[in-house]
Amino acid sequence: MTGTPEIRVLYNEAEISTRVDAVAEAIAKDKPTNLLVVAILKGSFMFAADLARALHKVGVAPEMEFLHLSSYGSGTVSSGEVKVLRDIESDVEGRDVVLVDDILESGRTLLFARNMIAARGAKSVRVAALLDKPMNRVAEIDADYIGFDCPDKFVVGYGMDMGHAWRQLPFIGYVPQEGDDT
Ligand code: IMP
Ligand code: MG
Repeated sequence: MTGTPEIRVLYNEAEISTRVDAVAEAIAKDKPTNLLVVAILKGSFMFAADLARALHKVGVAPEMEFLHLSSYGSGTVSSGEVKVLRDIESDVEGRDVVLVDDILESGRTLLFARNMIAARGAKSVRVAALLDKPMNRVAEIDADYIGFDCPDKFVVGYGMDMGHAWRQLPFIGYVPQEGDDT
């Protein structure tokens, strides 16, 4: 195949697994009741699947929901506008909710989701982000649980895409730009 950019590994499978287990332990420590884990699609599907299994291992039995939001077109720059493409079906009233997303960057996506779920009467709404990119934050929101502090690179793999490609990679990588050392 020609024209395929080289993807450089940022976090490998073992590193991801260690951090997913740590996030599950942190969630368990907060002793959630009637926990609903809401995966924000599409980017979080792999993280959410692994997190669900990691939660099971630490004795937490969440229900799982899926909220499909869109703030990016097919490019790499946020449009700033968040749309609900598919809503959750469960009632969140009185429940502890953990929103799961791949990346917390500008914060617009997760702020929108948190406000939406809180407005429906959830007892608590916490945020689990696999990657935190605080340097590009616009909205006032922080994650309660973080996998990695991510450098300011456009990353792909482990569910995350660039123009719909690379979600299948089992690791998190990035496309090297000019100036990235080898
Ligand atoms: P935010 O609203 O700017 O916080 O956008 C976060 C969402 O943008 C994430 O859930 C990702 O889906 C997407 N995103 C942000 N940065 C990247 C990246 O480096 N690679 C892939 N997707 C990204
Ligand atoms: Mg996303």
